[in-house]
Amino acid sequence: MELNAVTTMETGRFCVDASICVVYLHPHGLAMPAPSFPDHRRTDQMSSTHPVPASIDTITGQKRLELAHFPTPLEAAPRLAAHAGLAELFIKREDMSGYALGGNKLRQIDFILAEALDQGADMVITTAGSQSNFCRSLAGAAAKLGLGCHLHLRAKMGTDHVGNLLLDDIFGAKVTFTEKTDPWDPAIRAELDEIGQSYEAAGRKPYIAQLTGSSATLGIAGWVSGAAELMDDFRKIGRQPDAIVVVCGSGLTAGGLALGLKHLGATTRVVGVSAQQPEARLRQWIVETANAATTELGFATRLAPNDFDILDDKIGPGYGIPSPASIEAVRQAGRLAGLVLDPVYTGKGMAALLAEGDGGMLTGKSVVFLHSGGTPGLFTHAAAFDTDARP
Ligand SMILES: Cc1ncc(COP(=O)(O)O)c(C=O)c1O
Repeated sequence: MELNAVTTMETGRFCVDASICVVYLHPHGLAMPAPSFPDHRRTDQMSSTHPVPASIDTITGQKRLELAHFPTPLEAAPRLAAHAGLAELFIKREDMSGYALGGNKLRQIDFILAEALDQGADMVITTAGSQSNFCRSLAGAAAKLGLGCHLHLRAKMGTDHVGNLLLDDIFGAKVTFTEKTDPWDPAIRAELDEIGQSYEAAGRKPYIAQLTGSSATLGIAGWVSGAAELMDDFRKIGRQPDAIVVVCGSGLTAGGLALGLKHLGATTRVVGVSAQQPEARLRQWIVETANAATTELGFATRLAPNDFDILDDKIGPGYGIPSPASIEAVRQAGRLAGLVLDPVYTGKGMAALLAEGDGGMLTGKSVVFLHSGGTPGLFTHAAAFDTDARP
């Protein structure tokens, strides 16, 4: 890393630390010198006197912690089903998966942190967008366990001290920002490694989690396990729905579900709704990542590109930006089912469900909607709901 001068970004509130090549923002938006990483605020590290409940996951054979609350509820939403043109609609309430406001990442974190603890880590480092639900969830899990947490976030989604960034702070995570914008950019991994080395030099034992990299297999494993839970749900309701609609960022949730449901012989089809990537790139990544995971997990099942659907017509103005359709979908889900969706993830998934029920591939079908959480995002986009079109 050769940066040796302070660099100003669009907002004019950033500075770049020359030695580590990351941008750092004071929580209140004031430019300030970048901290030295090992100076971590949280010093309470894992203690062997407080064992963490763990188990071996029956479907993947992987070790997992039991930090989250499973099974999550599967509940019927008949008023929303009727509005959407579906035969029936169930909501898988992953938003109720437990600590730190829940969400779809908690299943993956149970697996990721089991590996981190097995490796003797006393802190975790990870990366994603600045309003990342994964990072907020990991920060919450780290706080529960007494692990240090350093989040290295892509600044493009905004750096205001609201929503998940506020929660990251409340959970005691250290936050730095990168200018990189592509989650798959290898330069981000290089930055994470550099941050990790800085902590190691200070005697810490960091574990680096990256969903678009080294943690992808465990991310898939988390949702293969989630597929087994859904099969239990389906046994309880006495039928397998035609489809499960799940919004996609990295695609690991949809990929793990598609792989797991296929492995378990389910007829329910995964319909992924992209909130970020074009269809072809997302589909290819899901297939490659799921099949790399099958090798590591020792599954004979392979995921084929046509085993699941990907829709990419609800991204709207862009990743992390509400669209008129997602705002309307959040309103409908609220009014007709008492659900709290957000306009950048689950709102876009619900917008696709409403469109596909209205003469599209879901018309008259039995459908599950995965409520993948993302609740803090609603409150960062309150202004987008302030419209004269409101009835
Ligand atoms: C609320 C919410 N739903 C869905 C997703 C998509 O999950 P995945 O990254 O596994 O595709 C995310 C990803 O960040 C999310 O935060």
